[in-house]
Amino acid sequence: MEPSKPVNVSELRRMREQGDKIACLTCYDASFALIEDRAGVDLVLVGDSLGMVLHGRPTTTAVTVDDIVYHCRALKDSLKRAFLVADMPFLSFATRERALDAAQKMMQEGGARMVKLEGGREQADIVEYLTVRGVPVCAHLGLQPQLIHKMGAFKVQGRDDAGAEAMVHDAEVLQQAGADLLLLECIPSALGKRITQKSRVPVIGIGAGPDVDGQILVLHDILNISPTVTLGRRPRFVRNFMEGAGNNLVALQNYVKAVKSGEYPAPEHNF
Ligand code: KIV
Repeated sequence: MEPSKPVNVSELRRMREQGDKIACLTCYDASFALIEDRAGVDLVLVGDSLGMVLHGRPTTTAVTVDDIVYHCRALKDSLKRAFLVADMPFLSFATRERALDAAQKMMQEGGARMVKLEGGREQADIVEYLTVRGVPVCAHLGLQPQLIHKMGAFKVQGRDDAGAEAMVHDAEVLQQAGADLLLLECIPSALGKRITQKSRVPVIGIGAGPDVDGQILVLHDILNISPTVTLGRRPRFVRNFMEGAGNNLVALQNYVKAVKSGEYPAPEHNF
């Protein structure tokens, strides 16, 4: 059998155009990277969620660029097909120079092929600065966990008309700035659908309903071992894929199948 080709930005676009759902998952080490790749995960994110699921912190604030690069390096050689995206941690893209420096480390040392950053239109300048220099960017809208100290709590975003309109506008501005991918976190399904229909680039959702181009979840949540799950604070959009699976590979294969078939997310996972 011919080995499948590595996923790249054009493949993600093709998947969106042909309606093939994109299955994405966070990952932080070589053992799970191998399993995710074998299970058919299309996109692997070294997310700053590692601060919560690996380091046991209550937020992602303490994660550094070096942490992200360390975990990218640990897993990059285990991915034969999946597309590797690295998360820009809190304040690592506060200026153009810092953003470029962080992206350079993540791509050259970490082997990432795209970086992700949180924020709306206020980040358009940084997105453009990176993309014109050959750094593919995923723009993360909706709930932005790095704003926790301003918001006070993790809440569904875009519920009111003003918030929804602002997000639709942010999505457009970030695409004009060169974003190659959008990620929408914790928003009403109707808004996820609206942004996806208007978008020219693939849209990945986490708690953004079924009508986006792909889904992403935190690995430790779907394996039912993250601190949030253990402490009884499972987010609404999380499904336990270990249930009935028996082992990690089967759990992740079931996740990929459920995303591709549209069986996940089900109505009970949506806002
Ligand atoms: O850090 C992370 O894992 C993320 C996902 C929740 C999308 O940003």
